[in-house]
Amino acid sequence: MQTLTLDAITKRFGPVLADDAISLTVRSGRILGLIGENGAGKSTLVSILYGLHRPDSGRILIDGREVRFRSPGDAIAHGLGMVFQHFQLFADMSVLENVVYGAEPGRWGVLDRKGAARRVAALAAEYGLEVPLDDPVGALPVGVLQRVEILKALYRRAELLILDEPTGVLTPPETRALFRVLRTLADQGHAVLLITHKLDEIAAVADEVVVLRDGRRVFDAEVGATTPAELARHLTGREVDLRPRRAVRPPGDPVLTVEHVVTTGAGRAALAGVSLTVRSGEIVGVAGVAGNGQETLAAIVAGARVPDSGTVTLGACDVTTWDNARRRDAALAHIPEDRNSAGVALDASVITNLTAGFHRRAPLGAHGLVSPRAMRAHARELVVRFGIRVADPTAAVRGLSGGNVQKLVVARELAHRSPFLLAEQPTRGIDLGAIEFVYRQLDEYRSDGGAVLLISSELSELLALADRIVVLTDGSIVGEFAATDADPERIGALMAGTAIAAEPL
Ligand SMILES: Nc1ncnc2c1ncn2[C@@H]1O[C@H](COP(=O)(O)OP(=O)(O)OP(=O)(O)O)[C@@H](O)[C@H]1O
Ligand SMILES: [Mg+2]
Repeated sequence: MQTLTLDAITKRFGPVLADDAISLTVRSGRILGLIGENGAGKSTLVSILYGLHRPDSGRILIDGREVRFRSPGDAIAHGLGMVFQHFQLFADMSVLENVVYGAEPGRWGVLDRKGAARRVAALAAEYGLEVPLDDPVGALPVGVLQRVEILKALYRRAELLILDEPTGVLTPPETRALFRVLRTLADQGHAVLLITHKLDEIAAVADEVVVLRDGRRVFDAEVGATTPAELARHLTGREVDLRPRRAVRPPGDPVLTVEHVVTTGAGRAALAGVSLTVRSGEIVGVAGVAGNGQETLAAIVAGARVPDSGTVTLGACDVTTWDNARRRDAALAHIPEDRNSAGVALDASVITNLTAGFHRRAPLGAHGLVSPRAMRAHARELVVRFGIRVADPTAAVRGLSGGNVQKLVVARELAHRSPFLLAEQPTRGIDLGAIEFVYRQLDEYRSDGGAVLLISSELSELLALADRIVVLTDGSIVGEFAATDADPERIGALMAGTAIAAEPL
């Protein structure tokens, strides 16, 4: 394959025009970055390309010849491979079994295990995809799972690799490793189509870039001939302000107090005596490489897990043994890390999801009874205020684009002015304009006296929002900084050793 061209692809979902006559060409040896705001039509476009959706009109051409994909099987047969954000792997099977599953070589249906292992090992070596071939995939970190998905595609002889927001779940070193693999792929003559929200990633790895807005292609350029600022303007149609925001008043009384919390088991993710306080009117950021205890800390604060020892106090109450529901009733708002499994009910409507957990309280209900009309009005207001792109609020959340699901969760959690907010990766997967919006919302929540514990893998996010930053490494807090004199180099070094701090993206 030398070129693959999408020619005037159009796709509607009911009243929504997801893709409006979009054309683009990916070329062998090149990495094409595809960017656009939440709901701009990126995932829909690549789903069509991969045979998951049928376009309403438009054509796909490989080397100038039209092809039609009725299923992903057709797309794979034509040399396409896709890495989904939600990996499609079997946890109990080994890496090797996952890679060859469904495409086993052999005669008369008998798996030639040695031959398969040799071919997979050769591919892994050729493209720098380090994976433990015999380990079950269940226990592997996401960065490795992603390499397994890439190997799977290459094993099926993919010449064009499509990746839809592959870095959202990766740590910075994993991201750099992925980009090295993508560059190797392109150098060996593959074509790569990469969807991302991060403009620095476009600058770091892409050769050319296409910007979608409202289902239309609005801009394209060679990466060397444009700048992140220009791309941001085309993305949003305006200037975006992500400058740091800080508390303007000294903080008030403690709202969350975590004292000497210890958890055991789960290896690196255990907590070895963590103490921290978040006061009214302040945002405390937790920095750290994923897997150093921040998920456990979040579980302890959210009430998903009881520590072996130590206490959690919310307001004036010792809530150490309270479950999540009881904490939410008392004082807790929570933006969870995995919005699809923990943040929303995918088959319930937007209205239901926007009001869930708060529907029995005024103004949405009274005396334990809900008011459907108040719920609808409340949901509509949040949809407008937070710019959630949804044609019909009674439709299921499943139809929303990834970033719009995240906006929905943020909107619901901020709408009720609970005294304390646990925000885990609050801007993961959302576009620049929405990030600016969430920053402003968190800042206002702080000004109104809210207390926020912000857990983020983006150091830039912590530096933009937090008043204090604590660094969590290997289950312990190894440093604390006032945001005004936080030094990114120093924090990076504390997070995971100098190797990570020293190497730029
Ligand atoms: N299966 C579906 N049913 C109904 N509407 C859908 C469906 N899939 C996508 N849409 C709508 O099509 C539009 C484009 O969605 P798409 O997922 O392609 O956006 P995206 O650019 O990938 O956004 P994000 O950055 O948030 O992932 C959105 O308005 C979305 O709500
Ligand atoms: Mg998407």
